[in-house]
Amino acid sequence: MIIAVDGPAASGKGTLASGLARHYRLPYLDTGLLYRAVGLAVAGKAEGLDFEAGAIAAAKALDAAHLTDIEALTAAETGVLASKVAIIAEVRKALFDFQRAFALQPDGAVVDGRDIGTVIAPDADVKLFIQADSKARMERRARQLEARGQVVDRYALYHQIEERDARDMQNPNGGFYKADDAHLLDTTLLDIEAALRAAIAIVDGTMARKAGQQS
Ligand code: C5P
Repeated sequence: MIIAVDGPAASGKGTLASGLARHYRLPYLDTGLLYRAVGLAVAGKAEGLDFEAGAIAAAKALDAAHLTDIEALTAAETGVLASKVAIIAEVRKALFDFQRAFALQPDGAVVDGRDIGTVIAPDADVKLFIQADSKARMERRARQLEARGQVVDRYALYHQIEERDARDMQNPNGGFYKADDAHLLDTTLLDIEAALRAAIAIVDGTMARKAGQQS
């Protein structure tokens, strides 16, 4: 079974996707980490041709060793860098095969990101599109960062998330929209347990319907 989980920054899609992976005992890939690793590789470079060439080279050379420094990868500024390299068509192309192969592995997979249901795994068995209002997303991200001992400026964080969403939604090389056959799950008013229960109900319901159609 392939489960595609998409949604904007800090929508809770990562927590939900990893919860689904545990529940169904499936391998899990957070594709945002790939873009974040490419972003980190060009941190400090001014935007321009050098930045673009560096990002393309980093995407082509990316391997598991670049995905270990979770603290640096998940920092808020790395998310901004990731959204800047994510608009480069060649970066997306270089990262495509790895994501597609992960989704298609024989055991099945849970993959989360922005374009999983539309580009990486349009043939996924179940697609979820996770949504939450901007303030709720900012507050969740702020608490995650505070739990790591960081001091958070909520006003700046809110604007950073909005800026990242705007860049993502205008990405000419993206696919950052809800697939027609994706199930919308708004987590604004749900805690983690309730959101996971709702996601499991959607997956079980979809798979039961599909099994019914086949018999
Ligand atoms: O999901 P996360 O917030 O870690 O993603 C960081 C950035 O990477 C996103 O804002 C987006 O620009 C980019 N991304 C992408 N396609 C994906 C996953 C992430 O373009 N499948």
